[in-house]
Order: sequence, then C-alpha cells, then structure tokens
Amino acid sequence: MAKDLTFNCTACGASTAKWSGRCDACGAWNSIVEDAGLTSGPKKHGLGKQRGKSIPLTDLATQEAEPPRTQSGVTELDRVLGGGLTKGSALLVGGDPGIGKSTLLLQAAARFARNGLRVVYISGEESNAQVQMRARRLGLEKSPVQLAAETNLRDIMTTLDNDTPDLCVIDSIQTMWSDSVESAPGSVSQVRSCAHDLTSFAKKRGMSVIMVGHVTKEGAIAGPRVVEHMVDTVLYFEGERGHQFRILRSVKNRFGPADEIGVFEMTGRGLAEVKNPSALFLSERGEPAPGSVVFAGIEGTRPVLCEIQALVAPSPHSQPRRSVVGWDGGRLAMIMAVLESRCDVPFTGLDVYLNVAGGLRINEPAADLAVAAALVSAREDAALPKEAVIFGEISLSGALRPVIQTENRLKEAQKLGFTSAIMPRAPKGTQGAGLDLREMQDLAGFVEQVFGAR
Ligand code: TYD
Ligand code: MG
Repeated sequence: MAKDLTFNCTACGASTAKWSGRCDACGAWNSIVEDAGLTSGPKKHGLGKQRGKSIPLTDLATQEAEPPRTQSGVTELDRVLGGGLTKGSALLVGGDPGIGKSTLLLQAAARFARNGLRVVYISGEESNAQVQMRARRLGLEKSPVQLAAETNLRDIMTTLDNDTPDLCVIDSIQTMWSDSVESAPGSVSQVRSCAHDLTSFAKKRGMSVIMVGHVTKEGAIAGPRVVEHMVDTVLYFEGERGHQFRILRSVKNRFGPADEIGVFEMTGRGLAEVKNPSALFLSERGEPAPGSVVFAGIEGTRPVLCEIQALVAPSPHSQPRRSVVGWDGGRLAMIMAVLESRCDVPFTGLDVYLNVAGGLRINEPAADLAVAAALVSAREDAALPKEAVIFGEISLSGALRPVIQTENRLKEAQKLGFTSAIMPRAPKGTQGAGLDLREMQDLAGFVEQVFGAR
C-alpha cells in the first residue's frame, strides 16, 4: 500500500509525502506543514461486496429548472454574483485580513434579510457584542439577521439542521473546527473538511452559504485556495490599505460570468457602492504630467478607465529597481525589453516605478500600450495629451494587436469627456463613438508619432 500522505501546502492545499521548503504545486515558500488529519489510507473503491445504488442519468437537452436567485439591491454586489444570490450555492469570499470582508458580509446579510431571506451570521472571530457594535455603526441594528459566535462545526451544523435558514454566513472558515478531524483549527485538513461539510449541507438543503477565507502569506493557517475547487463561486475582496476603494472580483462563478468586478468605497458607515468607477479612479488626476496615462480597460463586462503612472529616474544602484503596484512585474519587464530592442528606448541604469492609481489591479494585456506610453512619457519627460485614452496589446515583435471590446472602451472614454484614443488598428466597422482615433501599427511607430524625434 502507498505510504500515507502527511504534509500539506497551506497556500494551495497540495499534498506531499515529505516536507520541503517550497511547494512544488504553487511555488509558495515555507508553506508546507505536517497535517495529522489526512493520515487515513485510501479507501477501496469500485465494486466490492457492498454495492452502491444505481444513479439516474439524464441527457443534455432536458432542461432542469434554474435555481431561484435573490437580489441584494446593491448593484455592485449583485453583478459580481452573476445577477443575485443563487439558492443552494456555496460561496467563498477571500481577502487580506482587515480589508473589510466582515463589514461587506454583514451589510450583504442585512440586505438579503431585508429582501426576504432568513439569514444567520456565524462569527468565529468576534463575539456577538462586537458584531452588534459593528451593526450599530453601520446603521443595521434593526435588520432581522440572526447571530451566533461559535467555532464548533458540529454545533453549527446541528443548529442549521434544526432550523435551516436561506443563507448562512461563516466568518471565517479558518476559525471553524470539526471534531472528526484531528488537526488544529486553520490547518488544511480542518479547513477542507469544514468547507466540505458546509458545502454539501448547503446543496442538500437548498441553503446558500458564504464562507470568509483570509488570505495568508505563510505559516500554519490554510489559505482560501484550499477550498476554491469545492465552492460554486469564488470572490476576492481587494484593495490597497491606504486607499478607500475596495474591489470585489469574481474569479470563478458557476452561476455567472467570472472576472466581473464590483467597486466599493469605504466610509465611516461601511461600504458604499460606486456606480461610476471610471470617474472615481480619474478624480484625483490633475494637469497632464509626464508619466501619467489614462488606460481604457475592461473589467468583466464593464469598461473602467484608470490612470497608469510611471516614474523613471537615474539609479544610484548597480542593479536598478523595477517596482510595480497594480500590474504584473513580468509583463513590465517584457514591455521594457520590447521598448529597448524594437524602439531604441533603453532603460539601462534607470530605476522604473509603475503604479495603477486608486488601488486597482489590472490583469489585461490591453494595458501594454498604456504602460509603454507611461514609461516613455516619464523617460522623455513629455506629457501626453490630456484628452486621450490609450489601450492595446504589444507583441514581442513590437506589433500592436487589437483588443476585445474596443467599442465599449471608446464609448466609456467619450462619456467621460475624452476626445481621442491612441490604439491599435480597429477592426473594420468599429464605431468610434465620436472620438478621434489614432490607430497605430507598431510600438516603434507609436513612439515616433507621439513623442516625435528624440
Ligand atoms: P473588517 O470588515 O473587520 O475586515 P476583515 O473582516 O476583512 O478583517 O474591517 C476592517 C476595519 O476597517 C474595521 O476596523 C472597520 C474598518 N472599516 C470601515 O471603517 N469602513 C468600511 O467601509 C470598511 C469596509 C471597514
Ligand atoms: Mg473579519
């Protein structure tokens, strides 16, 4: 028989037979811990003496009724959920500690309760008094949400079983413990087992469950990725500590599109939804300055304009710094390499800083051209025209590739008062939304046309 697996990665949940300093599956350092709960050997499957029962099969054409949804009334939240909370679904809301998950979920719980759902909020981190105090601060103390401060999963399940609510919020999954698993609360096998029990209960009983998962950097507590595969919907709550914007992003959704975002603003009375994020992200923009560029992006189904800032300065170090906030460092290196080798814009001996303003995180390759423009603009100390938005993907050859949803980007730019767009060749028949379209074929042509002879 194979040797029992006794080590788990707290970041991704992968199991290994021996300890190592780095997880082979996800690359995280110092995340492998011994886990006592998974020591039972593999069970025998297949046809033994004890046969299972035969399950009914169906075909693809037969339509099952769609499970009903309930809206919270908060448009930003409902959109991320794919049009409301689906009955019997299991959700995971991940995020850094202190980012605002408990606040968001208490507000959501109150909204769903107001819209007719019976909601139970179980906190394993705070006492009832603390949750009540937060509710008062948010002006939600009259909402018909029921509370409990508990971490014992067996007691929680019995309570839910006796009187099943429509929605149960578990804050957080890492504080729950099941007595059927030996290891400590927060360990991979505890988190997995508790999430599994809650999820299967939710499916069986038509109860929705929202589990909070803290993102952990390292150490003995399992991160939310350990349960991502079990749940229907995975949302991440992100934002920069110093900024008041918070973004709820769906990274997986069996009941709607993934990659959808909801934008919130933190206030003294909780999270307020932001209906027009572009206006918010651009609100702090001043006069045109070198290194500042407006990128016309798409987040999920929605266009979002934001400012990309670059700073390029002579480096006092033998190895110049490259620092990125809100974008991918590898992608930045690639764009600098293309600028150097195809456009003769070297960055040798220069420190490069890149920042997406407002705490937004961009994943789109469509931001390539905006990043390149910010870099060249900072390096040449030449501002770009204030009324222009920029977008486009850059290939390694230096060619500019068209991007998805060009028209939506242009329409949003027009709505916010921009008059021109610097972009790759648009597909035939693209409606320009009244903007002056400056279509470019490659990066070298862009640098020459926009920044002229250098
Ligand atoms: P909290 O919801 O407790 O974060 P998490 O559950 O992710 O750890 O929020 C952290 C702190 O921020 C808390 O002290 C309350 C404060 N806060 C506000 O004042 N306003 C807000 O809109 C939010 C979201 C949080
Ligand atoms: Mg919390």
